[in-house]
Amino acid sequence: MTDCLLVGGGIIGLSLAYELSRRGMTVTLVEQGDWGGQASSAAAGMLAPLKEFSKPGDMLELGVASLRLYPEWVSALQEVSGADVQATPSGVLTVALTEEETASMEKKYRWQKEAGYNVQWMSAREMQELEPLITEHAMAGIYSREEGHINNRLLLAALVLACRNQGVKLLSGCVVTGMATEGTRVVGVQTAAGKLLASHTVITSGAWAGIMAGWLQCPVPIRPVRGQVAAVSSIGFPLQTVIFGTTGYITPKRDGKIVLGATEDEAGFQREVTLSGLTHIVNGVRPYVPALQTAAFLEAWAGLRPATADGKPLLGPVPGWQGISIAAGHFRNGILLSPITAKVMADYLESGQAEPLASFSPARFVQSPAAI
Ligand code: GLY
Repeated sequence: MTDCLLVGGGIIGLSLAYELSRRGMTVTLVEQGDWGGQASSAAAGMLAPLKEFSKPGDMLELGVASLRLYPEWVSALQEVSGADVQATPSGVLTVALTEEETASMEKKYRWQKEAGYNVQWMSAREMQELEPLITEHAMAGIYSREEGHINNRLLLAALVLACRNQGVKLLSGCVVTGMATEGTRVVGVQTAAGKLLASHTVITSGAWAGIMAGWLQCPVPIRPVRGQVAAVSSIGFPLQTVIFGTTGYITPKRDGKIVLGATEDEAGFQREVTLSGLTHIVNGVRPYVPALQTAAFLEAWAGLRPATADGKPLLGPVPGWQGISIAAGHFRNGILLSPITAKVMADYLESGQAEPLASFSPARFVQSPAAI
């Protein structure tokens, strides 16, 4: 019997396991494939809430709170794991190419500035000075200094090491086949290798979370949205800053790659990279840094983002049941939101107080839980 059993070993499951074990709980983490083998390793690793969330509100607040947890989170993690996760506060530059985009960006800049965020308006000349490879057609931009990126694959590896060092029971290649219940209490899960029991179970299985909640007759709307991403070599292309446009993004990493993204495809659980996906990426980034068309192609991959019906994650108890909660549905921002998700879910699991999670509660989608 473990205090907490987490089902799904992506960035959210690993981060929560790490945080719970830091707080002294016994934790078992189950993953059907490899650690972070789905959306978490496919991500571009951007830490950019001011770009990702286009209006003020709870998602922006959650994203910024998570961004600000990152320095302490990474430094503690690096200490426990001994691994460098290449956290890079490179700044993020959002670029407008037309009068229309400039006007809408001005509005965004105004409310961001009024809300006290560390953003700077940039003229075409200032953008050229910051990143000489930016197109001469760039009209204006917002430069956000405190944002940046991280090497998500190194982050995942560091979390696995830290969890192991802190005594988390790590079961990869372990397929969960159903919930173990007693009345309206979830007491663990059934796996292909037998039953695992826990005081509390958390569904952290990303795009698969809806299927697991369905076992409890609790239909939460999580679906996979495929993101195709490509990487080119940075040799000859000395970009420093993450560059975002309306049609694509360019993320220069510290490992010699420039990651270019991304598609948002409704393709079910298919993870193929398609020619039309690659064309979309190439056409999407070309207007911002045309010179990249001659960069050496390195690789392309795809991941399944867990999307919810209202764009917000599901954090908190599963309605109608005891002993079970969900932390999933982070869509494009699982890496960004992992430290805050670990914190607020660990607070909930320690205290039993779900009110702070009210606006992310799975209950918003469940009118009449079948188990009540
Ligand atoms: N976070 C960027 C993406 O999902 O493509």
